[in-house]
Amino acid sequence: MTTLNKLRVTGGMLELHSGSGPGWVISSDWLRDNCRCSACRHPGNGQKLYDIVDLPDGLHVATAAVDGAQSLQVQWSDGHVSDYPLAWLAAHDLSGAARSARRRTATLWSRDLLNHLPVADWPTLQADPAAELAWLEQYAALGFGLLRQVPCESGMVAQVGDRLGFVRVTNYGRLFDVKSVPNPTNLAYTAVGLGVHSDNPYRHPSPGVQLLHCLESEAPGGDTLLVDGFHAAEILRREDPAAFELLCRIPMNFRYADTSTELQARQTLISTDMDSVVRAVHFNNRSADWLDAPADVAQAWYRAYRAFSHILKRPELELVFRLAPGECVVMQNDRTLHGRTAFDPGLGRRHLQGCYIDGDAMESRRLVLRRSPKH
Ligand code: OGA
Ligand code: ZN
Ligand code: ZN
Repeated sequence: MTTLNKLRVTGGMLELHSGSGPGWVISSDWLRDNCRCSACRHPGNGQKLYDIVDLPDGLHVATAAVDGAQSLQVQWSDGHVSDYPLAWLAAHDLSGAARSARRRTATLWSRDLLNHLPVADWPTLQADPAAELAWLEQYAALGFGLLRQVPCESGMVAQVGDRLGFVRVTNYGRLFDVKSVPNPTNLAYTAVGLGVHSDNPYRHPSPGVQLLHCLESEAPGGDTLLVDGFHAAEILRREDPAAFELLCRIPMNFRYADTSTELQARQTLISTDMDSVVRAVHFNNRSADWLDAPADVAQAWYRAYRAFSHILKRPELELVFRLAPGECVVMQNDRTLHGRTAFDPGLGRRHLQGCYIDGDAMESRRLVLRRSPKH
């Protein structure tokens, strides 16, 4: 721990300087709102006990002192006293360098990931928390994971969904069958090839995670295609920044309709956060509806849409493999786009079952297992 030997309060900011390093600049409003004392946060559950408007207007630092190398003590203008461990302040350093170091970066992948597929055996994953954590870490970094040895039983996909998270029931039910049928309500239920897409962008919110479990795959064709939407978005940002910016800003409408359902949602194909980091990609040609934007914007947007679609079709980005019976692919539906090649249902059967779950439960499980991989 560095020793702090200089402390300054200026214009609502607190500056802490060590002998050598650049030091910390801390907003005083931010600091007050992070007080951990038992009047501010419930000691048992850590939840906040006051409302932001309960703090007086014009609150400022009255006195501040650093206690050895341990903590920063602040007395506020209303008399409240706060104590901040320096280790906590270091972990919440708001400098650009610290913020970007804290950011979890996605591992971008392309076609050659085929030799390092993120795979686990389902019985092992259920029995061994260390194996489960290892698989969840790969899933979090790559945006998808494969499970093998999932019993080839109808309905199993929903059991897997309920073990990884909570199945989200939709108008398609708890799970849906993907096979070629007469009078299909969705092109997925035919034998045609499907370009890579996210599922259900017409839903608010779109499903966070999609599972597809293979029960039968005798028909020639029907290979699975996966593309890293984050990688494709980064390529677009590099090659055509103006197109990237348009797809982040101008949403398009998506729609699904059948006799009893009318689903509509509007969202951008690419979403970024305040630091311009790509956080979501939603792309689906089949359920793309129309663009509600001024004509000149529409013209530029279509140029951008075509540029992104071209990138998504680049063979070097496309991970191609064949799901075998007993295999289940689990995908972040807001990152990993999926599709399939056409198959011939006259020459053999092909049957997948799918379901959706939310992403938060999987992320929670990863973080809980990280605390102690013994759960
Ligand atoms: C789907 C889908 C892919 C496949 O049903 O959403 O994309 O391999 N299916 O059949
Ligand atoms: Zn307090
Ligand atoms: Zn799909």
